[in-house]
Amino acid sequence: MNETLRVANIISGVFRRTTTDVNIKEYPGTSCSGNFYTSFGGGPRLCPGYELARVEISVFLQHLVTQFSWVPAEEDKLVFFPTTRTQKRYPINLRRRC
Ligand code: HEM
Repeated sequence: MNETLRVANIISGVFRRTTTDVNIKEYPGTSCSGNFYTSFGGGPRLCPGYELARVEISVFLQHLVTQFSWVPAEEDKLVFFPTTRTQKRYPINLRRRC
């Protein structure tokens, strides 16, 4: 589950606006975005739904792994910019187990 969240997180980053002017080198007035190193963020804005999300993912993975089998629908690969993810969202052909 942690690996799934790391590789295919639904949130790749967030935008922030400063409350006072901050000059960063020669880029004044630029908006900035942050990428997450943890799936659910952290600090005061930590995702309040993270326990629910983890339960839902656990239930989904339990059904997927025990009731279905799959093969990759096409070649895919991990990319690391701008975030870690599979390039084509890892398309699969799914089949229900007998
Ligand atoms: C895999 C599922 C989820 C992921 C990866 C995720 C990720 C995140 C992240 C990274 C943030 C922080 C955004 C920031 O710093 O501005 C966030 C905030 C938030 N999440 Fe989630 N989340 C998930 C599921 C959920 C669920 C199931 C709920 C509610 C039932 C939820 C409700 C919220 C709310 C209300 C915030 C805003 C918190 C604030 O601004 O103080 N999330 N989420």
